[in-house]
This record gives sequence, structure tokens and C-alpha cells, in this order.
Amino acid sequence: MAIDSVSPMVAARHQMEDPQEFVASLLHTSEDRTAKGIAASVHRLITAGILRPGDRLPTVREISAQLGVSPATVSEAWQSLALVGALTTRGRAGTFVALATPGTGPTRFMGLGGPQSAVGLDLSRGTPDPALLPSLLSAVERVTRGQNEWSSSYFDEPVLGALEDELRRTWPFAPERITVVDGALDALSRIIDHVVSFGDRIVVESPGFPPLFDLLERAGAQMLAVSMDEQGIVPEELARALEFDPAAVFIQPRAQNPTGTSMTTLRSSELAQILSSSACWIIEDDHSGDIAQADDVSIGRYIPERCIHIRSYSKSHGPDLRIAALGGPSEVIEAIINRRMLGPGWTSRLLQGTLVELLTHAEPIAAVAHAREAYALRSTHLRESLMDRGIACSPGDGINVLVSVNDERSALVTLAAAGIRVAPGEPFHLSKNTSLTGNAPRSASVRVTSGMLSDHPGEIESTAQSIAIASLGVEGFDAHRR
Ligand SMILES: Cc1ncc(COP(=O)(O)O)c(C=O)c1O
Repeated sequence: MAIDSVSPMVAARHQMEDPQEFVASLLHTSEDRTAKGIAASVHRLITAGILRPGDRLPTVREISAQLGVSPATVSEAWQSLALVGALTTRGRAGTFVALATPGTGPTRFMGLGGPQSAVGLDLSRGTPDPALLPSLLSAVERVTRGQNEWSSSYFDEPVLGALEDELRRTWPFAPERITVVDGALDALSRIIDHVVSFGDRIVVESPGFPPLFDLLERAGAQMLAVSMDEQGIVPEELARALEFDPAAVFIQPRAQNPTGTSMTTLRSSELAQILSSSACWIIEDDHSGDIAQADDVSIGRYIPERCIHIRSYSKSHGPDLRIAALGGPSEVIEAIINRRMLGPGWTSRLLQGTLVELLTHAEPIAAVAHAREAYALRSTHLRESLMDRGIACSPGDGINVLVSVNDERSALVTLAAAGIRVAPGEPFHLSKNTSLTGNAPRSASVRVTSGMLSDHPGEIESTAQSIAIASLGVEGFDAHRR
């Protein structure tokens, strides 16, 4: 059913005595009788307001008879709609449109925010230490000194020539097309608009980036969770997820948020080998860029025609620059450029010029190198102190470390009482019922932004001590010391 054929039907629906009969007759006009097609049609009926919260759907048997498909196909469609929270099943009473359709807002993302009340040490934000960012002031001064007129044309190339040259020089593979957008999250959102359709299966890392889960849920995707070891995604898990024929795989190649895992070169070639037998898009979100210790590895070195690589400058040069570059196949990048013509048009060339200055001058280059070393020292020191106290924690490249705790809530409360704020681990994990593979191992954890620690060894020790107590509970901590 075409989306635009839907709105005149809202009125018709409201005159109908029996919504079930109406739905069955509407679905009958749908051409795609696969489980995915049926699910997509019902989802459109919900988002168009034809089906309303609380409406009971026809039974699987009724729909399958109407459409001439097997009950298993209809059940699969209902299951996928239930997975994205659009339907709920109430036992024998039947299947209903969910009362409030979740998955349309930044639910997990907002779960990380919390009020900015006074706290001694805020290690919850996942943002870089402002003191380690290169000075924007001198870069802006330099870029504005030479030039007062900035293009105001919507039809110029969206990327400054000098920036494109610099990006191509440092990109981990030769991309067909390159552009810049307003941050990595903007890039993820725009890529999802182009490569993900309702009902698509999408492979994601769990633990992973909460706003990515929110975006995919909003797009009606079914997520397939894969876990990571110290080298990146576990190859066997990726191979198993590919059996579900996903449309895309989302990877954070370096300093993964929340674990700080970086994919090794060997692992990238193993994953590329596995992915070579699929047809899915590979989206790499290199959100940490130059502050990661690891090399800029990419599966695009092996499969450039299907790899879309994002590089953000938020962590290395400042979140307020709001710039990320994305490069890959023209088919996708060009579509994003064209879509932006009906929106922001381009990312401010003044900001792009500032970024060129930051990437090519000795002073900001040295500042970013210094930040990289400082983050590595802070993370290493914290991890070693925690491990000495018997606490398991993740690899911690970049600014975040995921720390195991006995009980998440009580760890957060204990730390808050000590004046330390960390992020709850829960939003970073997919629940087993959200992941189609049911493969979403989860142990209680908190994410600690080690990048915001001080450089003072004594202060890191005392923070580690507080985290260890919160992680094990006072009794567990005493038991470990004995
Ligand atoms: C994995 C990941 N992707 C994207 C982003 C957003 O980056 P940006 O500020 O460039 O939008 C973040 C921010 O922390 C992140 O951790």
C-alpha cells in the first residue's frame, strides 16, 4: 500500500464500526505479502493514525485467510511489530496496537542525561575534557583574517576544497565520495534514512551507542546484537547474525563507546572476509577520531563499495564544532548531499575553514596528540587501579571505560553519595527481547568517562577506590581486601 493512499482513509476508518474488518480489507490491497511487507503496511496504518492505540487487530487466522498466506507469515509480521513496540499481545484477548508507541524518541539517550545538579566529579558525560581541546580562538582568527566573504550559494560544492583534500589524504580507504555533516550522530541519522527500511534487520554492537539504538528503533528496524572481545566484534557472532540477512552492520572501529574497544587490523580483515559473502552496508562510526590510540582501521580497505565511514571531530577538536565527515559509495553519500539541499544545505564553510586550520597547523596538531596521551594515561591508571582491587573493566581506549558492578542502581547511588557521577550501563545494552538473535549478554555495569579524571595519580587512586567500593558493595570490598 502506498503511503500517500493512506490519509484519505483516516476518515473512512473513523466511520467504520469494526476496525478489524477494515484492517483486513486494507491489507488485502497490499502487494507485498511477505512478513516484512505485511508488517510495513500495518506500521504505516499505525503511524498514519488509521489504526489507533488500543485497537484490536484481526486474528492471525483471519488475516492469513484474507491474504492467502500462511499463519506463520502473519505471526512473523506481528512478532516484528511487537519487537519495535508497535503491538502488544494480551494472551487470549488478542493483539492490540500499543497504547503509546515507544521507539519514537531518544529514550535511551535521555536515560544518560540526568539533571546537572552539583556533583564533585562528573564522569558520566562521555564528552572530552575541555582543557584538552585545541584552542578554537586562534583557528577562527586565522581563518577570518584572510577572508571576509563566505559563499552563500546553495549550489556550491558542500565541502571546502582544502578540507576535502585533507580528508582524502587521511581517509583509511579511497572513498568514491566525501562530504561533511553536523556531527557523527547527524551522519548516523542521515545514513539510516537512506539504507534502513521498516522491518530491516540491522547488526549492532551490544553494548553500543544508545542514540543509535533509538534511531534504529524509530526506523522500525529489528536489531541483531553481536558482542565484542578485546579485538572488536566476535567473528562467529557476526557470521551467525548474517544468517538473518541484515541490511546493514553498524560498527565503531575505535575507542568504542562505552567499552573503549578498538578493532585490530587482523580482526578487521577477518570481519571483512565474513562480510564479503553478504550484500549488507557496513557503517563505521569513528566517533573518537584522533584521540584514539589505535590505528584508523577500516573494513573499507577490503570492501570500499559497501563501506560508509564516519569520522567525527567532536572528541578531538570540540563537540561544538558540530562537524563529522563521511565518505564511501557515491550512491549513499550523494543521496545524503541531495537530501540536505532541502534542509541545512551545507555545513557552515566558516566552521569547515576553522577545521582545516585545526588539522593543518602545528599547534592544534600538538594539542590533539597531547590529549591522546593524557586520555591514555588517565584510562590506564584507572583501569590498573580497579583491576588491582579485583574489578573487571573494558579495554578503555579513548575517554570511556565500562566497569562491572554487582548492582547497577546501588553503585550509582553509592558513587553519588561520594560526589561522583557515572553513567548507568543499562541504556548501552540491548535487552534480549529487543535483539532478534536474543543474543544480548548483559552484566551490570557503569560507564566511567575516564577522560574527565584529573592527571593527579593520588586523585585517580581515590576515585578508583570509590568506584571499587560501589562496584563490590562495602561487604564485597572488605572481603576482597581480606
Ligand atoms: C559512538 C558515538 N557516535 C556518535 C557520537 C556523536 O558524535 P558527534 O558529536 O560527532 O555527533 C558519539 C558521542 O559521544 C558517540 O559516542
